[in-house]
Formats: sequence, structure tokens, C-alpha cells
Amino acid sequence: MRRVYGWPKNMSNFILKWTFFYFWATLIPSMHPAKNQYRKLVCVCTNMRENGAEYCAMKGSVELHAALKLAVKAVAPDIRVAKSGCLNNCPDGPTVVIQPDNIWLGGVTEADIPALVELITKKDV
Ligand code: FES
Repeated sequence: MRRVYGWPKNMSNFILKWTFFYFWATLIPSMHPAKNQYRKLVCVCTNMRENGAEYCAMKGSVELHAALKLAVKAVAPDIRVAKSGCLNNCPDGPTVVIQPDNIWLGGVTEADIPALVELITKKDV
């Protein structure tokens, strides 16, 4: 029987590989909590299409987003109103989603902004 002293033959190779891996892993930026945390997130679909199909931007959702953002920011700066891509509600657009309340609205116009601001800024829905 042969006695083996020291580390197994491939141990130094193993350590070298993992040292190399950890060195590069520390250089990759890791995930961290976002600095800006809002109480609510309102997404306004401002999607555009060039294939002729119906989309929210053709019904004034870009202007709706700008006006809604100003109105909500004036009342509740801790609520974020953001543009979004298609929310898969195109025929009934412009689409607005309020999270975390999970309220989905279709056919929203600028005339609805006062009611919408009231709905969005409610503490508990
Ligand atoms: S383009 Fe707005 S929901 Fe699809």
C-alpha cells in the first residue's frame, strides 16, 4: 500500500481556480436596495408601434403621462409616475396601472386626472 503525504494531486489546481473565481466575483457589482423607494408606482403605457396596430401613444398617453406626473408630484412626491411599455391592454388604452394596489385602468384621458390623483394618493385602497 502506498501512503500519500500532503494534499491530493489536484488540490492546488482547485485552490487556484477558486481564488481566481473569487477575485473576479468581487469585481462584479452586486445587487443592492434601490436608493429611491417610493410608496407607490404608477405606470402609464406610452408604447408606440409602427405596424399600424392600435397603441396607447396614438391616444395621447404621452401627454397624459406628463400631466399626471406633474399633478401627482404636487400632491404626493413619494409616488412615482413612470412611463411603461405595452401592458397588453392596447384596444382599451391608454392604460394606467397603480401598484401595489393592483388597479388597472383603461381608456384614461386627461379629463380623468383629478379623479385619478385622488385614487392614487389614497393611503389605503
Ligand atoms: S400599447 Fe399600451 S397597453 Fe399595449
